[in-house]
This record gives sequence, structure tokens and C-alpha cells, in this order.
Amino acid sequence: MRKPILAANWKMNMNSAELSAFIGQFIPLVANAEAVDIVIAPPFTLLDRLTQQIAGTAIQAAGQNVNPEENGAFTGEIAPGMLADMGCTYAIVGHSERRALYAESDEFVARKAAALLDHHICPIVCVGETLEQRDAGRALEVVETQIRESLAQVPSDQADQIVVAYEPVWAIGTGRTATPENAQQVHEHIRKRLAAKFGEAGNRIRIQYGGSVKPETVYDLMSQPDIDGALVGGASLDPEAFARIVHFQSQRIQ
Ligand code: PGA
Repeated sequence: MRKPILAANWKMNMNSAELSAFIGQFIPLVANAEAVDIVIAPPFTLLDRLTQQIAGTAIQAAGQNVNPEENGAFTGEIAPGMLADMGCTYAIVGHSERRALYAESDEFVARKAAALLDHHICPIVCVGETLEQRDAGRALEVVETQIRESLAQVPSDQADQIVVAYEPVWAIGTGRTATPENAQQVHEHIRKRLAAKFGEAGNRIRIQYGGSVKPETVYDLMSQPDIDGALVGGASLDPEAFARIVHFQSQRIQ
């Protein structure tokens, strides 16, 4: 059984007052959500405050990015050991916004994932095709290449310590969610590739869906056999909406 993982990606949003207001509302709403992993990835500036405010709860903190180097002359970057020092147990790598806006390659993403594993931080490795690639019938091929290249440095004995997030670029922040069936088709393909690469451990890797996930859509997505979680941007900025996503099982629309 794969434990569902619901993760908030706050991107470049929220300040300290907004964080405190969010956490104050959110903690009681998810107090009994023990069967799932709950992760929040705030901007780096809020990580310290976040980990203090979630201490004693089951909520976990994540970085939104990381640099694969240990330390050194990399102005503006954050090292894996620094995330560990902040109490992070997860970090997002290879988000499509970083791939598109900051030209991050699969090779760079692969180094980040390996560096995080060295620090016992679980990488959430994002993959996903653009609309152009989907319309050209290349979605599976694009995702397969990203999986192969971005996970190239993950040792087999650590494979079940990673999370993969399938986020079709055309569904991010657009209000367009992939249909559960479309998403499942890609998740199933990813699952097969993971199993081919890592054997039995591939079946234990959790695969999240991301792209305009809302309380209204999360149940049907999570009902698919190979969708094990959600990576949520916009809707995760609202504590009530993200709590409903965490309680995805009770969000079934009658
Ligand atoms: P969205 O973002 O939920 O706002 O579409 C998801 C993501 O980019 O991780």
C-alpha cells in the first residue's frame, strides 16, 4: 500500500503573517488526518517559521528547490544540508516553472535528487509535457525521457525514498485539470518505467498528480489506481481548500 501524499507548493507567495494565519486555521482541520502524508513547501524565507509552527504535528516541511552542491560560491542558492538544517524532509525538484523559466535540465534535476537523498531528504521529482507536446502525441515519450534522465542518479536501494509528481504543464495554474483517465494513463506509464528501472521498489514509489487540483477534483483523481497524491499550487494557499484536499476521501461529489 502506498501512503497518499498531499503536498502544498506555495511558490512565491505568503509572508510571515499569512503563514501564521494559515497554520492557525489549518492544523485543527487536519488533526485527524493520520492516514496521509501532509507536506507544505513555502518560500525558503518561511521555512524556519513553518517548522516551528508545525512542531508536534504530522505536517512536514519541504523546500521548493535546492542546489546540488554542498556549499560554496553559488550566490542566491540553497544547499541540501541547509534544508535538512531547517527540518525539511522533502524538496521539490524539476518543477516545470524552473525547467521553463530557469532552463533547468534533466541532468541538473538528477544531481539535485541525488544530493537530497544523500541528506535523507525525499525529492519530489516533477515531470510533465507541454500542450504542444501533448497535441503532437508526444506526452508519454516526453515524460518517459524526463523520468529516465531525472532519476538517472537515484540508487536502486533508495528508489522508494523518492516521490514523482506528474504535472502536465498545460494544467498548471490554468484551471484545466487533466481528466482522471488521462492522468491515470500517464501515471500507469510512469509506474511501468519505474518498475522496469527499480524492480519491486518501483511499485512502492508514490506518484502525485499536479495541475489545478481542487477540492472538487481531488477525489476522482485519487481514485485512480496509480495516483497516490497531489501536488497543489493555487488551492493550497487557502487553508480550508487544502484541508479538504487532504481529506480527499470525503470530497466525493454526489
Ligand atoms: P496549480 O499548481 O495547482 O496552481 O496548478 C501546481 C503546481 O505547479 O505544482
